[in-house]
Amino acid sequence: MSSVLYIFFLIDKLVRVWQTWHMKVLITGASSGIGRELAKLLAAQFDQMVLVGRDQARLNALQQKINQTNSTVNVTTVSMDLSVAEHCQQLHAMHPDVDLLINNAGFGDSGLFAETALAKDLAMINTNVVALHVLTKLYLATMQKRNCGHILNVGSIAGFMPGPLMATYYATKNYVVRLSEGIREELRRTKSKVKISVLCPGPVDTNFAKTANVQFNFRGVSCAKVAQYTVRHLHQFYIVPTWQIRLARFAMGLLPSTWVARIVYRIQAKRQHC
Ligand SMILES: NC(=O)c1ccc[n+]([C@@H]2O[C@H](COP(=O)([O-])OP(=O)(O)OC[C@H]3O[C@@H](n4cnc5c(N)ncnc54)[C@H](OP(=O)(O)O)[C@@H]3O)[C@@H](O)[C@H]2O)c1
Repeated sequence: MSSVLYIFFLIDKLVRVWQTWHMKVLITGASSGIGRELAKLLAAQFDQMVLVGRDQARLNALQQKINQTNSTVNVTTVSMDLSVAEHCQQLHAMHPDVDLLINNAGFGDSGLFAETALAKDLAMINTNVVALHVLTKLYLATMQKRNCGHILNVGSIAGFMPGPLMATYYATKNYVVRLSEGIREELRRTKSKVKISVLCPGPVDTNFAKTANVQFNFRGVSCAKVAQYTVRHLHQFYIVPTWQIRLARFAMGLLPSTWVARIVYRIQAKRQHC
C-alpha cells in the first residue's frame, strides 16, 4: 500500500516539475511601460512568453533583450490591435493555454467629457474594457477546465473613484476593478483553483501621461518598481504599489463620492496641459 502511495507521490511531483517547465505567460501591452517591465521580470520564471502590442519594432527589441539575458525562455511576439474584439478572439485561438494572463494594454485621455474626441473615447473603451472583458472571459473558461491559472487585470487607483476631467478613463478602470471583484467571488464560491488579481497603481512613469495628455504634478513611480512589487504580491487580489497610494485609497473610501469627485477634479485640473 505504502509503495503505491509513494508511486502516486512521485508521479504528482513529476507532473508539477513538468508543469513548471512548461509555464506560459501572455502579456498585453508588452511593448512599453508596465507591461514591458513585467515581461523582463517574468522571463526568468516562465519558459514561454507571448508579448502582445501594436508596435512590432518595440516588441522585437524587447524579445531580443529578453533572449540576451534569458536563454531558456521562448518568446513569441504578436502585433495586434486589441481594440478590435475579433482580434482578442484570434489571440485566444492562437494561444489558448496560458498559465498567467496579464491584461495590461490600456490608455487614457483627459479633458471635459463633452469636449474629448468620441473616437478616442470609443478606442479607449474597446481597449481598456472590451478587450479585457473578452480575454478574461475566454481565458477564464480554458483555465477553469484545467482548474489552474491566474489572470492579472491591470486597473488603477482610478478604479475606486469617479474621475472628472478623465471621466471615461476612470469609468473604464472602475469596470476593471468591479469585474475582477465579481469573478473573484465566483471563483471562491466554486472552490476553483484559478486565481484573479487586480493591479491598481497610482501615477507611474510611462508613456501613459503623454498619450492621456496630462502632466503628473509629481514624478510617478518607476515602472520597474511597479513590476517588482506586482510580481512579489501576485498572491494578493488587490495589488496596490506604494504606501501613499494605499493610504489615498483608504482615505477616499471614507468620503462620500461627491466629495471624492470634487477632490479628483482639483487634482486633474492641475494636471491638464491646456
Ligand atoms: N502609467 C500610469 O500612471 C498608470 C497608472 C495606473 C494604471 N495604468 C495602466 O497600466 C497599463 C499600462 O500602461 P502604461 O502606463 O505602461 O502605459 P504605456 O507605456 O503607454 O503602455 C501602454 C501599452 O498598451 C498597449 N496598447 C495600447 N492600446 C493598444 C491596443 N489597441 N492594442 C494593443 N495594445 C495596446 C501599448 O502598446 P502599442 O502602443 O504597441 O500598441 C503599450 O504597450 C494601462 O492599462 C494603464 O491604464 C497606468
